[in-house]
Amino acid sequence: MQGLLEGRVAIITGGNSGIGRATALRFAEEGARVVIAARREAQGQDVLGEIKRAGGEAIFVRTDVSRPTEVEAMVARTVEAYGRLDCAFNNAGVALGHGLIHETTVEDWDRTVDVNLKGVWLCMKYEIAQMVTQSGGAIVNNSSTAGLVGYEDGAIYTASKYGVTGLTTSVALQYATKGIRVNAVCPGWIRLPVTREGDAEPEERESQAVRETPMRRMASVEEVAEAVVWLCSDKASFVTGVAMPVDGGLVAR
Ligand SMILES: NC(=O)c1ccc[n+]([C@@H]2O[C@H](COP(=O)([O-])OP(=O)(O)OC[C@H]3O[C@@H](n4cnc5c(N)ncnc54)[C@H](OP(=O)(O)O)[C@@H]3O)[C@@H](O)[C@H]2O)c1
Repeated sequence: MQGLLEGRVAIITGGNSGIGRATALRFAEEGARVVIAARREAQGQDVLGEIKRAGGEAIFVRTDVSRPTEVEAMVARTVEAYGRLDCAFNNAGVALGHGLIHETTVEDWDRTVDVNLKGVWLCMKYEIAQMVTQSGGAIVNNSSTAGLVGYEDGAIYTASKYGVTGLTTSVALQYATKGIRVNAVCPGWIRLPVTREGDAEPEERESQAVRETPMRRMASVEEVAEAVVWLCSDKASFVTGVAMPVDGGLVAR
């Protein structure tokens, strides 16, 4: 049976860990050739190994998404290896700057905005430059429920994710007639190391997540990956400019 992404070429930033890793594996299962872009090569090679053992195709391109020349090179290397670029999951992100705003640091602001917001902008800039030459493509940015509602404990992170949501909807409008769809996923509480940073103990964070989530549990990374696969596939051919919560009902509350 044909996969949903058969023959497509897809970049996944942050594809060596967490949500990105799960999405890279699902994209390969659905027939995509996958470019994993992140900084830590060893973790990237692990994912490549897993994809190749299952019969899929993938490469790792060492990339810091906050650096314009590296993002440009990521897209160039993709086209050099596979001849085109059909999909991208701009997922790389950091969760820094917890706590009250008067206690946060300039370093936390700069790093968060550089990776989460400037990184997504840079990725779209160079990915779409390639996609317009092919008259088509599908992009999914990883925002967060923190890109849709406020979070007391993460004002800087929330600001960066609102930025991702705003970029997504605006860029979707720019390319709506050009065959390029641009959407975002907005995960809620996901069981992962990134959700376990910060002041509270992991158990406390888990019970907070369960308390706040109408479905009374955290999500798995695979549940986010499924939404990304669908948004990148032709099944979502009339869907653009959407910031889709994958959150067990959190934002609905
Ligand atoms: N976990 C949650 O509960 C949750 C909820 C909502 C949204 N999200 C979002 O989901 C995305 C993925 O996070 P995750 O939860 O899967 O955590 P994770 O496992 O820590 O993944 C973060 C990924 O981003 C990459 N990354 C960080 N800085 C980078 C940079 N400068 N250049 C390139 N890659 C970089 C990391 O790889 P390297 O360190 O190797 O570069 C890693 O692959 C993030 O955007 C996060 O904000 C997560």
